[in-house]
Amino acid sequence: MSRSIKRIRKAVFPVAGLGTRFLPATKAMPKEMLTVVDRPVIQHVVDEARAAGIEHFIFITGRNKGVIEDHFDSQFELERTLAERGKNSELAILTRDLPGAGQTSFTRQQAPLGLGHAVWCARDIVGDEPFALLLPDMLHHAKMPCLADMMAAYQEHGGNLVAVAPVPEDQTHQYGIVGVTDPKAKVSAITKMVEKPPRGTAPSNLHITGRYILQPEIFGLLANQERGAGGEIQLTDSMIQLMEAKTQPFHAVRFDGDIYDCGSKIGFLTANVAYALARDGLGVELRSELKKLL
Ligand code: G1P
Repeated sequence: MSRSIKRIRKAVFPVAGLGTRFLPATKAMPKEMLTVVDRPVIQHVVDEARAAGIEHFIFITGRNKGVIEDHFDSQFELERTLAERGKNSELAILTRDLPGAGQTSFTRQQAPLGLGHAVWCARDIVGDEPFALLLPDMLHHAKMPCLADMMAAYQEHGGNLVAVAPVPEDQTHQYGIVGVTDPKAKVSAITKMVEKPPRGTAPSNLHITGRYILQPEIFGLLANQERGAGGEIQLTDSMIQLMEAKTQPFHAVRFDGDIYDCGSKIGFLTANVAYALARDGLGVELRSELKKLL
């Protein structure tokens, strides 16, 4: 890594969303705590960040999200009971992936003003260093975890990066879309970026998948960002300003695995099946059960 490229130590997870698409399941429970197989969605995403070397996990929460904080804390009574009963493998599952002392931070987004505003809420905790941003709804399933893949590209190029993947043309209006110098390349410079382009106007079919590496200069832009698509303060609009300033590189990294949008019922259900099929001790049995159902 060149000396001028600062290490990414912190990751931001915006978890303030209401989860209205999953009511009544999300009436008293945050949507991020819905489980894919036996881990909450947010745990899968935190695992991805840890696998990429992240040391500090910053959650942008809201009302009714306290259980996320509890999930990433130790559960003393339960741990003691499991230890007393000799249930060592269960105990290991509980403690293995816990962030250590001082490795989590939680702050609230008090009003649902958009993703850009949620990220801006992390500015003091992130401070003056580059950071990763992971949108928990989007599960990225691959042998090489997406953020780790991006870290490798970051070490080469520095600056800002977003993960991208192709979507069908009739879905481009649902995402942030980028135009790049070489759409087939693994890593390519971004030439254009637009949030939720009207149908037929997208610069390509490459959508921003919800994984970012950003320089701290984004916070100054977010502070003054006006509302954009959907009346919300959009992260993409500030990224466009950062890109157009041409003071820092801005690259797209193609993600080649599978993406499940766990903010939608179909994405969530498919994620459960896909993750279970890939799991030792579960996949074979599930496959035969699915055959019976179909
Ligand atoms: C957000 C981003 C968008 C990105 C998408 C991925 O949109 O603004 O650029 O493509 O996440 O899920 P949202 O899904 O919050 O509308």
